[in-house]
Amino acid sequence: MIPLPHPAESFSRDDLAKLLAATTDDECSALYAAAYRVKKEHVGAIVRLRGLIEISNICSKNCLYCGIRSANRGVHRYTLSQAEILELASRAMDFHYGSIVLQSGERSDPAWIDCIEDTIRRIKALSNNALGITLSLGEQTPDTYRRWFHAGAHRYLLRIETSSPKLYASLHPANHSWHDRAACLNHLADAGYQVGTGVMCGLPGQTLHDLADDLLFFRDHAIDMIGMGPWLPHSDTPLNHPGFNPRDALRLGLNMIAVARLLLRDVNIASTTALQALAPDGRERGLLAGANVIMPNLSPLSHRADYTLYDDKPGLDESDDTTRRNLEAAIRRIGETLSPDAWGDSPHFAARTR
Ligand code: 5AD
Ligand code: SF4
Repeated sequence: MIPLPHPAESFSRDDLAKLLAATTDDECSALYAAAYRVKKEHVGAIVRLRGLIEISNICSKNCLYCGIRSANRGVHRYTLSQAEILELASRAMDFHYGSIVLQSGERSDPAWIDCIEDTIRRIKALSNNALGITLSLGEQTPDTYRRWFHAGAHRYLLRIETSSPKLYASLHPANHSWHDRAACLNHLADAGYQVGTGVMCGLPGQTLHDLADDLLFFRDHAIDMIGMGPWLPHSDTPLNHPGFNPRDALRLGLNMIAVARLLLRDVNIASTTALQALAPDGRERGLLAGANVIMPNLSPLSHRADYTLYDDKPGLDESDDTTRRNLEAAIRRIGETLSPDAWGDSPHFAARTR
């Protein structure tokens, strides 16, 4: 393990790659402990919850790694009705989640844009403005981003997937553009959102220096929130990799969280479901490596299996109140607390807009 350079801003690309290479139990424990100290100092040992509502699995895109890509004809496509979404938003309030994430495949037809705008307004009205709304609805025009922001959404997640245009090109069809996606992050910030992005790690062809570049990309693009996770194979996608090793994937996912925390300090970092897919306690381990956000799934059980981005998605038959109870117990076990009914915004956003 290399000694940590000071201050964190002076981490070089090589320093970051060396930290990401932590492999032995001793190296990893030291890395996670250092990240946990930084987390406690900058965002506290407090878990921020966002109830996740997967509103539609219809997607116009065809990313080579994703189970709900448009070319996968084996998927049963669904869209929740507005009444169902409002019901789930009330459920989030009952659970004191404080904020929700509306996520779907990418769609940009006018009826969809109008429907989302109206749904955001209704969620704000039904909760008396109490519920925070994060959107994760893909690439859209600046005008659409502005309309949804004015309707009441205040955070947006759009993973860049990788900061390397070359690697991006190897994972997507030719009509998917890394530069268009990167431009969307600027449009989101211009519209006033707190901006979240992220990458997958352990992708075929990805190096530790690529991941180091991802972290520098987050630092240099005014990113407030990060959602990263290991790439996991899906059997009905073209990106299947015989060399996939779940233990290595979990370790790399945790290392990325820890090094992101050391470098970026006051951003929100999600401990993602992909970690839980690799180990039953994967999300708690993510918290202990420096993450501070968990997104418990509120989607109806009847549709969970239809929103399968990768094989072995966890929680397919776990009811939302069981999820909540298990999560609360797990959080208590690791000595952290919850912040009921709070939006849990990223301190980084407050600092950069002060
Ligand atoms: N493994 C891990 N993450 C995936 N995503 C999509 N497919 C996979 C996969 N096979 C992630 C992408 C996308 C987010 C919604 O889910 O990063 O942005
Ligand atoms: Fe669609 Fe997102 Fe899957 Fe790509 S990763 S196919 S945009 S849902």
